[in-house]
Amino acid sequence: MNAIVPHWTAIGLLSDIPVKGSRCIKLGSTTIGIFRTAEDEVYALEDKCPHKNGPLSQGIVHDNCVTCPLHNWVISLQSGQAQGADEGSVRTYRVRIVEEEVQIDIGSAE
Ligand code: FES
Repeated sequence: MNAIVPHWTAIGLLSDIPVKGSRCIKLGSTTIGIFRTAEDEVYALEDKCPHKNGPLSQGIVHDNCVTCPLHNWVISLQSGQAQGADEGSVRTYRVRIVEEEVQIDIGSAE
């Protein structure tokens, strides 16, 4: 059986991420956008729009979604799924906050 073992990795402090904004980290050749909502929820998604690989981290965060800066697709921060009539999804990572430190689970991908 191949269980996916969580691998929590600290990526900075919650205060490093602007409210309704994001910051990026590099994981090997992958760029991950870390998004913070107005309600201080934090999500991690590969920084690659499912439409044409636009940089989601440069998009607008609203509700629990981000709007891609290139062609305005709306992507759910929770599921990574394109919303509305658009179809596609982007890789997501689990996030937890331990005493203000943001950690992502690089051992899991949904
Ligand atoms: S690349 Fe994101 S909407 Fe087109």
